[in-house]
Amino acid sequence: VSIDLDAVLQHMVTVAKLAGTMILAARPSAEAAGTKKNSTDLVTETDRAVEKEVFEKLREGYPSFEFMGEETYTPGTRLSASPTFIVDPIDGTTNFVHGNPYVSISIGLSIAREPVAGVVYNPFTGHLFSAARNRGAHLTSPTHGRVPLPMGPGLARTGGSVDVDPLTALDKCLVIVEWGSERTGNDYDIKLRAFRNLTAAKADGGAMVHGLRSFGSAALNLCAVAAGWADLSWESGCWAWDLCAGWVILTEAGGRIVDANPGRWEVGLEERRCLAVRAGDGWKGVVEEFWGCVEGRLQAG
Ligand code: IPD
Repeated sequence: VSIDLDAVLQHMVTVAKLAGTMILAARPSAEAAGTKKNSTDLVTETDRAVEKEVFEKLREGYPSFEFMGEETYTPGTRLSASPTFIVDPIDGTTNFVHGNPYVSISIGLSIAREPVAGVVYNPFTGHLFSAARNRGAHLTSPTHGRVPLPMGPGLARTGGSVDVDPLTALDKCLVIVEWGSERTGNDYDIKLRAFRNLTAAKADGGAMVHGLRSFGSAALNLCAVAAGWADLSWESGCWAWDLCAGWVILTEAGGRIVDANPGRWEVGLEERRCLAVRAGDGWKGVVEEFWGCVEGRLQAG
């Protein structure tokens, strides 16, 4: 059966906007938020309600597709090879409960376990990122209308697609990392060492990255790299619902996703580790430099 990806993407956009309305109407509080694994892994009634509504609306359009969602996931379940909507109802729950607007609804579609379409929508800023395989990636926003990604240098002011700068060296990069909700053990130690390696002044006067950012939404982080607002995003411990939609948006914008661990140029959606890099010549050299800052092997996934 052939699937009309343009039509599916349109439906995903409609559902994402509906979810955005629900998110804007909610009145969360840090005090009332529930926890899952520990005090850094939050969930709210809105996460659950949005996931339920999104699931129902997606199913109205595509009743035969499968569904994977953060709040209804059963640990150990593998992603199906059939067409599957992969949803994070609120990516950036911690921001959400604190009234910080760096929040998104993320709706991806995978076929044969590969990301093929995605929508990431921040209802607070009105930024809607979307992409489908072989159709390019776009940002629709109140300030720029609908523009193709990447936007290139000067993008925040002018909008529109322009030639992107090459990636020349890690010490020219703006890098996104996340702390994640695992705060002990091997992976946490590797993250802390990498953060230090990326930012600490070098005894020989060597260079550091331009900056390290932790915005708190993995999906929006991938979109930021797709747009060219940051050069790299590195995370381990994220899930398919954090990644699927942003993955398509980034790769359709000419960016790449490789393993967060050094040495592997291919990584799967279910592996829970990613190093995302924006479009631009020279990207491989910068990835290798980044990998040089990762001491040890991340085990997430
Ligand atoms: C989390 C955010 C966070 C990332 C975590 C995710 P949630 O998603 O994307 O930035 O570091 O890996 O789990 O819990 O807000 O949906």
